[in-house]
Amino acid sequence: MSIIQVQNLVKKYNGITAVNGISFEVRQGELFGFLGPNGAGKTTTINILCTLLSATDGTAIVNGYDCKKKSSDVRASIGLVFQETTLDNDLTAYENLKFHCYLYNMKRKETEERIKEVLQVVELYDRKDDLVRRFSGGMKRRLEIVRGLLHRPKVLFLDEPTLGLDPQTRMNIWAFIDNLRRKEGITVFMTTHYMDEAEVCSRIAIIDHGNIIACGTPDELKKKIRGDTVYIKTSDDAKAFDEIERGFDIRAARLKDGIALNVESGEKFIPKIFEALTTEILSINLKKPTLDDVFINLTGREIREDNNNKGSELFRIRKRG
Ligand SMILES: Nc1ncnc2c1ncn2[C@@H]1O[C@H](COP(=O)(O)OP(=O)(O)OP(=O)(O)O)[C@@H](O)[C@H]1O
Ligand SMILES: [Mg+2]
Repeated sequence: MSIIQVQNLVKKYNGITAVNGISFEVRQGELFGFLGPNGAGKTTTINILCTLLSATDGTAIVNGYDCKKKSSDVRASIGLVFQETTLDNDLTAYENLKFHCYLYNMKRKETEERIKEVLQVVELYDRKDDLVRRFSGGMKRRLEIVRGLLHRPKVLFLDEPTLGLDPQTRMNIWAFIDNLRRKEGITVFMTTHYMDEAEVCSRIAIIDHGNIIACGTPDELKKKIRGDTVYIKTSDDAKAFDEIERGFDIRAARLKDGIALNVESGEKFIPKIFEALTTEILSINLKKPTLDDVFINLTGREIREDNNNKGSELFRIRKRG
């Protein structure tokens, strides 16, 4: 049986449909990624699953309990790490954890052992008596994540666990979450808009405008893209895009910086584009499909404007004079 079952879930806020009838299941022990751009409905979905918000329609079942009817059983089954940090900067790492144990009515003896255990996992035991305000962003995030694990939940919900952290720290947090999942045998449900992070998930659901537009393992999703993705940059992308749309029968997407094209064969296509375009081509990249391409293919746009699509560069051309 799946540990999370969601059927036709709808959430409307005063006429705005944030979640538009989504259905999906998460299996025990999975690292399930919920991938989507700003405003897609990720936090809304997490909040319903964590019983912080009630659904307008549909059902959500977590660990066998209905989120609407058995909210306290659901709460006892889950850990939650919010998108915005909720650590108390004026308490030490130890005190922050202790307070959480108190909220969850954990027994004193169990509390001390468990705090030590989780602090060791995140390699913060030596810093347990430091004020959290002295911690780096990555240390705070690690502390916050294990705080959600103190009461040994079955499912850990993480809302954008690495938002705003530098790439190195994000990688570390990722390895750490995956490790925790294996060690503690828990299911992890997390939202992200970082494609590279979604790559490490067992399965992902891509959500856009409140709808799930694809669901599967990263490999399954990438296999849905047939052919090659070619990225081009020109001296005038608007004009080039126009010329491509008029001259070729292919899928093209305007990116913040360049144009993405889904073609049957990159090698055959590249010579043709040189002939067809009147604008100067500055660079052309051909690369294997990534989850970025899956998103672009499904929606015709990038997940976040600040995400760059960098492939292995095949050609770099600069006209002289
Ligand atoms: N309390 C609220 N009242 C009204 N509208 C809301 C409320 N919370 C969210 N929304 C709207 O619902 C939609 C989905 O928001 P949600 O926070 O779930 O998105 P998200 O995918 O988590 O986005 P982000 O990546 O920015 O965190 C948005 O259009 C948002 O403006
Ligand atoms: Mg959110």
